[in-house]
Amino acid sequence: MSTPDTINLGIFGGGTVGGGIVEILTQKSSYFRQLTGKTIRVRKVCVRDASKPRDFTLPEGCSIVTSYDDILDDDDIDIAVEVMGGTTDAKDVVFTALSKGKSVVTANKALIAKDLPEIEKLLTTLDTDDTQFRYEAAVCGGIPIIRSMQSDFVGDDIKLMSGIINGCTNFMLTAMDRDKKSYDEALDQASKLGYAEADPTLDVGGFDARSKLKILMRLAYGMDVEEDEISCRGITELTKMDFEYAKMLGGTIKLLGVAEKNDDGHVSAFVSPCYVTNDDPLSSVNGATNAIEVVSKNLVSSIYIGQGAGRYPTANSCINDIVALAKGDKTKLPFNPKSDTKFANNYSSVFFLRLNYRDQVGITRQVGEICEKHDVSIHSILQNPVQKSQDSAFAIVTEKVEYAAILQVLADIEALSWCKGKPFYMPVLREDWQT
Ligand SMILES: NC(=O)c1ccc[n+]([C@@H]2O[C@H](COP(=O)([O-])OP(=O)(O)OC[C@H]3O[C@@H](n4cnc5c(N)ncnc54)[C@H](OP(=O)(O)O)[C@@H]3O)[C@@H](O)[C@H]2O)c1
Repeated sequence: MSTPDTINLGIFGGGTVGGGIVEILTQKSSYFRQLTGKTIRVRKVCVRDASKPRDFTLPEGCSIVTSYDDILDDDDIDIAVEVMGGTTDAKDVVFTALSKGKSVVTANKALIAKDLPEIEKLLTTLDTDDTQFRYEAAVCGGIPIIRSMQSDFVGDDIKLMSGIINGCTNFMLTAMDRDKKSYDEALDQASKLGYAEADPTLDVGGFDARSKLKILMRLAYGMDVEEDEISCRGITELTKMDFEYAKMLGGTIKLLGVAEKNDDGHVSAFVSPCYVTNDDPLSSVNGATNAIEVVSKNLVSSIYIGQGAGRYPTANSCINDIVALAKGDKTKLPFNPKSDTKFANNYSSVFFLRLNYRDQVGITRQVGEICEKHDVSIHSILQNPVQKSQDSAFAIVTEKVEYAAILQVLADIEALSWCKGKPFYMPVLREDWQT
């Protein structure tokens, strides 16, 4: 029974995150009572398979259910916590709960990134002072980046956000670079340790990072951009050789989500492997750890580093949302005000290109001519000793150029008879990387 001194929860999902939420609420129940003046009770946990053994203890008065309506139709439940994942049933659950006046706490970045405009539209029709939508766990698990974007940067102007926002791929890149693992070995290890999504394409293809970047762009710049407008490349094309060249240049490779406000006011963004110098703070963020650097007018540079996933870090963020709701905190606009900031589907950067080739006369000359044709200036050329003349590679570092020009250069090079496979390219994170 809901009373003014009680907050009742229905949790959709009793897996990794759901179990962690129940555990923390149980362990800290009396502290939360003192902190909020309310008793926070988990009344129902909705799962797919009620007979499956659970690795957490159900609190007293809490039942396992399998029908969404057991929670949605229960007027005593004040907060619906959605930690079951997916974008179809989860959407129905979240929308229905909000429509019925229940606040929602969710960790579901895929759902938010996909349906953000619809969620916002629904929220405007509700009394959002009482029906709140909270999603701290949706971006970078345990790192409190959503709250910061909602409050700490409101007097500031964000110029750039660049971050390691997918733990699985950062774990893999660390294993490939530091531990000399192959791509397959690294993915296998990441999956065994539970860092990979059920469908690892979401991680290795950069799509999970892109969902998070889209949410951060909405908060930082007030803009809605379709996810598939953001250029997205994962780590599948990376080879050991790219790490060797990165090392020769004095750095490493990280999969980054980057959004930058250009001088003309447009925002450009991409997810891509990036060359990062060893003195960049992001270069030493290893394993499944996440990190985001926010460059802004007032605060200059702020870096958030922490656990981007896992039971307790993610549950911790959900708990913070639940406790904030129990305290009566209100957020009028969970996504900050909208702006007319436009998206620019292009960006400028220094680029690293790796070209595989069958040896023949005139290769460097042809590459030079193609670069000149597209106004791309070459900064340096790197080559390890040639071991197989029919299967070799060299790398080029360009000066700062437009992404669109690099795509043209690569298309022309790929059409040449000596070029083996698709050339690989990645932006270099800092313009001043050479100094
Ligand atoms: N795990 C992380 O580190 C992490 C980090 C950040 C965000 N997230 C997000 O948090 C959410 C949950 O992730 P998770 O790792 O906790 O997933 P999980 O371990 O697979 O747990 C999912 C839970 O939801 C239940 N469920 C799934 N589909 C259902 C359905 N159709 N009807 C009823 N119950 C259903 C499952 O029931 P059964 O147990 O009966 O199968 C399970 O208890 C996802 O949106 C994920 O993206 C997770």
